[in-house]
Amino acid sequence: MALTASPITPLTVSSLERLYQQFLLEAKDDYGWTEGAIPFEMLVEVLSAGNLHAIALEDTTKTPAESSVVGFMLYRIEPHNAIEINLVCLEKGLPQKTAVDKLFGYAITHWQTIPNWEVISYAMLGKQTTLIQTLTWYGFKPVGQCVMNLDLTDPLLMPLLIRQKQEKRFTPPDGLHLVQWQPDFVEPVASMIYEAFHTKSDALWDPRFRSEKGALTVIDLITSGRIGDFYPNYSWILAITPSPKTQADFVGFSFLVQADLLTGNIPLIGLIKNDEYRNKGLGKGLLQHAIINVVDGILNGELPMLNVHATVDTDNSQAVKMYRSVYFQETSDYAHAYLTRETAMAFKTGQWVGC
Ligand SMILES: CC(C)(COP(=O)(O)OP(=O)(O)OC[C@H]1O[C@@H](n2cnc3c(N)ncnc32)[C@H](O)[C@@H]1OP(=O)(O)O)[C@@H](O)C(=O)NCCC(=O)NCCS
Repeated sequence: MALTASPITPLTVSSLERLYQQFLLEAKDDYGWTEGAIPFEMLVEVLSAGNLHAIALEDTTKTPAESSVVGFMLYRIEPHNAIEINLVCLEKGLPQKTAVDKLFGYAITHWQTIPNWEVISYAMLGKQTTLIQTLTWYGFKPVGQCVMNLDLTDPLLMPLLIRQKQEKRFTPPDGLHLVQWQPDFVEPVASMIYEAFHTKSDALWDPRFRSEKGALTVIDLITSGRIGDFYPNYSWILAITPSPKTQADFVGFSFLVQADLLTGNIPLIGLIKNDEYRNKGLGKGLLQHAIINVVDGILNGELPMLNVHATVDTDNSQAVKMYRSVYFQETSDYAHAYLTRETAMAFKTGQWVGC
């Protein structure tokens, strides 16, 4: 076996087909792509349009009649100064260290020539997480991520939520109010998102959380429907006045989107970083309020949801406890690996970067 990596061009894209079709069979169960993956014809289109890039790993000892592609990587160059690895797929039985060496050695050397990115980000879903030990050799660092799920089909859950609604329903303390999302909340909420997340692990692999300007693009991503239908009437702001206007009026936020046909997602929830509000049960209350409204929305036929998901950093015990308090359970976890530009630029083929 002799492995070599090279970029996929519109002329060579058909060489990916055999392995990509194999990946499609495993995408949901083995790779954790709950929303499924795009069919090969569509992959050809997005690669040809330059919206996605691919690097193929070939075994050059194979005969022309055999398919020589034994691995591939898909990645995007994101406008928010990140290179996002979407998928690394390696054929079973490959020597992992050699394969990763060729694929990532080529990729990092290539990315060194691309300007204006700050971080390489890789959500290692499903069986890709097994690559983490190898990737630390190139200077990648992992952040633990955990998917929390509220299973609304669990027969024990509905009575619990209904009891919570009747007996322990969250009412904001004196002086605070819950209001539904409005488009003119964008700027103050961007400030809150920046405050709540810029010191969190999320900012290590997503530069958007490092500035208020970046947080504006996060809100745009959520409210534009690009990550699933956005529900303004089920997205909440905790505020000091009943009609918040100035930045000083805003205390907390919680968004709801439709992740797939029957799954809701809370992409972001948080409070401003202020001892007056943190750690006083407001996060739990805001989430409980959001979930009780989701249940009402399901019961009145407005929301098509059997589950609600949220992703949290595994070291964010406050958030994990908050989700558990509303009966979410951890269903899966994975490593989110990131490589800073500085470390990537120091990489030389055949040389260990380490941590
Ligand atoms: C997560 C967050 C919304 C929680 O809000 P909060 O009002 O401060 O938290 P609460 O008072 O509701 O407490 C939630 C749980 O965390 C616990 N907790 C509080 N401080 C903690 C700490 N330093 N370490 C661990 N647990 C802590 C509380 O005891 C409570 O658990 P319990 O129900 O078992 O007692 C808030 O910390 C925040 O905005 N964080 C930044 C953004 C973020 O991480 N969002 C979540 C991921 S999208």
